[in-house]
Amino acid sequence: MYRTHTCGELRKEHSGKIITLAGWVQGVRDLGNLIFIDLRDRYGITQLFFDKSSPLAESAKQLGREYVIQVTGTIRERSSKNAQLETGDIEMLVGQLTVLNESKTPPFTIEDETDGGDDLRMKYRYLDLRRGINNKNLLHRHRVAQAVREYMDGQGFADVETPFLIKSTPEGARDFVVPSRLNQGQFYALPQSPQTFKQLLMVAGFDKYYQITRCFRDEDLRADRQPEFTQIDCEMAFVEQEDVLQMFEGMVKHVFKKVRGIELEDFPRMSYADCLKYYGNDKPDLRFGMKLIDVKEVVSGKNFKVFDDAEAVIAIVAEGCCDYTRKQTDELTEWVKRPQIGAGGLVFIKCGVDGSYKSSVDKFYSADDLKKIAEHCKAKAGDLILILSGVLIKTRKAAGELRLEMGARLGLRKVEDYKPLWVLDFPLLEWDEEDKRFNAMHHPFTSWKKEDNELINTNPGAVRANAYDVVINGVELSSGSIRIHNRAQQEKMFSLLGLTDEEAQYKFGFILNAFEYGAPPHGGIAFGFDRFCSIVISNLDYIRDFIAFPKNNSGRDMMLDAPSDIDARLKKELGL
Ligand code: AMO
Repeated sequence: MYRTHTCGELRKEHSGKIITLAGWVQGVRDLGNLIFIDLRDRYGITQLFFDKSSPLAESAKQLGREYVIQVTGTIRERSSKNAQLETGDIEMLVGQLTVLNESKTPPFTIEDETDGGDDLRMKYRYLDLRRGINNKNLLHRHRVAQAVREYMDGQGFADVETPFLIKSTPEGARDFVVPSRLNQGQFYALPQSPQTFKQLLMVAGFDKYYQITRCFRDEDLRADRQPEFTQIDCEMAFVEQEDVLQMFEGMVKHVFKKVRGIELEDFPRMSYADCLKYYGNDKPDLRFGMKLIDVKEVVSGKNFKVFDDAEAVIAIVAEGCCDYTRKQTDELTEWVKRPQIGAGGLVFIKCGVDGSYKSSVDKFYSADDLKKIAEHCKAKAGDLILILSGVLIKTRKAAGELRLEMGARLGLRKVEDYKPLWVLDFPLLEWDEEDKRFNAMHHPFTSWKKEDNELINTNPGAVRANAYDVVINGVELSSGSIRIHNRAQQEKMFSLLGLTDEEAQYKFGFILNAFEYGAPPHGGIAFGFDRFCSIVISNLDYIRDFIAFPKNNSGRDMMLDAPSDIDARLKKELGL
């Protein structure tokens, strides 16, 4: 037996017991007549003790960092305890020491606070994963998956696997492709999601399907995006939107309760239109207020051309910020002018605690005018009003970004707060200016609202979809929709997207055909599982920390050095 216990479980009660541990040497502290070693495994760290008189002292001194050793010895209470460590009350007086394997000096320190840069740690990811913090994240991920499975199984969902070598699925990103040896010149695509398969499973009568599965998208990477990522993919037959919302709100609540002990309140619901109007984007962070306020009317007519000529003038109120200095307001102005935000400038009104009003456009607005604007914004004495203007869509977006920035600066986006919501009533289509045609806002299998049936022929851009997202703290966690389940309607959708009948048949014949064999009404949803883990555990959307072997920002696996060239012979066989 290599070990009787793990390095994380020994406590005062084990004092006097003879125990065997195995693990990695985190560090050797040689104090002359005493030697301490921190022995680590995935459960924790135990202090080993050797005194100078021990015949093992010399061998202990020779141990390098990350050597794999096995030790047997007596547990005793420490004279100076370490409250930081769960095993900090005890240490092992070592009687036997076996080196199981040596190690080269690791390229960075394997502790929570490390000295290794990103790429170096990714190259040696197996060492990076020894760090407690990473190790815990993956175990948390496991726990989230278990909680999901428990809920889904309890609700009668069946886990069904779908293929990876498929024909391209249109989810809006580029496909990763795999050349076929047996069909030279032809390619499989890796699924961007199992969308069409889960719908075919509904036609097949599976009723309640789910899968925790990998998806592949060749798109630009960000903190919350990886080229291969995992979805909790779900579909149900004989459901309406409300059934899906209930079922999956239940799932999110179950996971938070199980994994973090957090009871989430019922999710509020907000239309896409209101999200844009009040928060400037379709994934509002509801941890704080500071809603966008339309001030166009109240600021117009004072000869301030910038506002008079603007399609939209939008304000936010930063509570208690009236004493911002010139330096601070200048800095904020520079911030909104950055290309990522794209505002032309920033106007501010300081609502003094003494009831005075001062603005950066005092030339055009009297104190009385400013008071009216402040009243319209429900700003109180001591607040700072920030105003942006320009084209509606751009100004909303910029004001939304400014709101998030101010929320962060004022400490309102608290890490302990969770504010989920459902975003509903997305538009079905979005206009692609470059290609001069509509794209599906969600995907082409999404149905539209019955009330908008007329609009589909007259004003397709105004048609609302039966689509919904779960958003938590500004992160889009999942998307879903009630699907089209009838051939004629699906063909109509393809034609709106600019596909000819032939193209639709070539690309999607399989699903159009399936719809002619008794397809039940159905709908579903998919959660970004990596994002779910990141949000539940750390309340961030930095997903790499929750993936065992992630890619870097250029889509490279630094450890494997992939992608790479392939063997000339293989290339030839594949006809490349
Ligand atoms: P969608 O494309 O919105 O919907 O994806 C669902 C969820 O997957 C997550 N996600 C990602 N996570 C990490 N890296 C990525 N590159 C990435 N792309 C997406 C997001 C997102 O909300 N088939 C539909 C779902 C459906 O209609 O049922 C779909 O894939 O959290």
